[in-house]
Amino acid sequence: MSDPTRPPGPRIIAVANQKGGVGKTTTAINLSAALVAEGQRVLIIDLDPQGNASTGLGVEAEEREYTTYELLLEDIALSSVIQGTETEGLFIVPATVDLSSADIELMSNEKRSFLLHDALRQYAMDEFKFDYVLIDCPPSLNLLTVNAMVAAHSVLVPLQSEFFALEGLSQLMLTIREVRQTANASLRIEGIVLTMYDQRNRLSQQVEQDARDNLGELVFQTVIPRNVRVSEAPSYALPVLDYDPNSKGAQAYLALAREMLQNHAKMAA
Ligand SMILES: Nc1ncnc2c1ncn2[C@@H]1O[C@H](COP(=O)(O)OP(=O)(O)O)[C@@H](O)[C@H]1O
Ligand SMILES: [Mg+2]
Repeated sequence: MSDPTRPPGPRIIAVANQKGGVGKTTTAINLSAALVAEGQRVLIIDLDPQGNASTGLGVEAEEREYTTYELLLEDIALSSVIQGTETEGLFIVPATVDLSSADIELMSNEKRSFLLHDALRQYAMDEFKFDYVLIDCPPSLNLLTVNAMVAAHSVLVPLQSEFFALEGLSQLMLTIREVRQTANASLRIEGIVLTMYDQRNRLSQQVEQDARDNLGELVFQTVIPRNVRVSEAPSYALPVLDYDPNSKGAQAYLALAREMLQNHAKMAA
């Protein structure tokens, strides 16, 4: 594992929240595209059997012969599972519903929690020279999400600016703590990002205030506004940055990418 001649691998970030519809996939796609706009090479792993990230980036069903399922459970060349997208510098390992059975098949596997970790650390990864890997997690704290947390350096948590937003967070934090204790001691929280924020809505402001009061530094300064261009972009199979670069949503994801890159630059210094 520790080969001093080997280049440092990509930063791996799990985008996770067991609630559905909070903006995980939207954030995985658009933060990735924004990182690419900032000069990074980025791989998205679609770890949700619903395959929304794959669809949102225009990977058609017939182009999903080799998927995250094969990446986890079969010995297959990385070059077969990693696909390019319309956005230069942005790559994806797509998913299909097959992945839902992986969760069960993993159970009987001795290395069940480490399959994604090991897949992403094979030597063949070096050739792709990725700077970042973002993992789009399913809306549950199942074995797939645990695989993401074991594989990752950090967890990025999208938090929808709505009532009850903070409720599920303690469960998520417990899972992160468990993963730290058992498999990945250095797992960090990348940050919590408020999504679908409506400036005119007092509830959004309240959720933001609660989040900042309770979670402090963990909450990104950047908030992602509710923006119709963001929700339209996937039906054009594009990140919002390509679909409508001047939209508020695109600009917010760019700001988020810059904030994160700055944090990482500070950590490296
Ligand atoms: N900033 C936003 N503005 C408008 N709609 C959004 C925004 N973020 C997410 N959505 C929409 O909310 C829904 C759920 O988002 P999604 O990213 O699929 O959540 P998850 O992956 O957590 O289930 C989608 O229809 C998406 O288009
Ligand atoms: Mg999703």
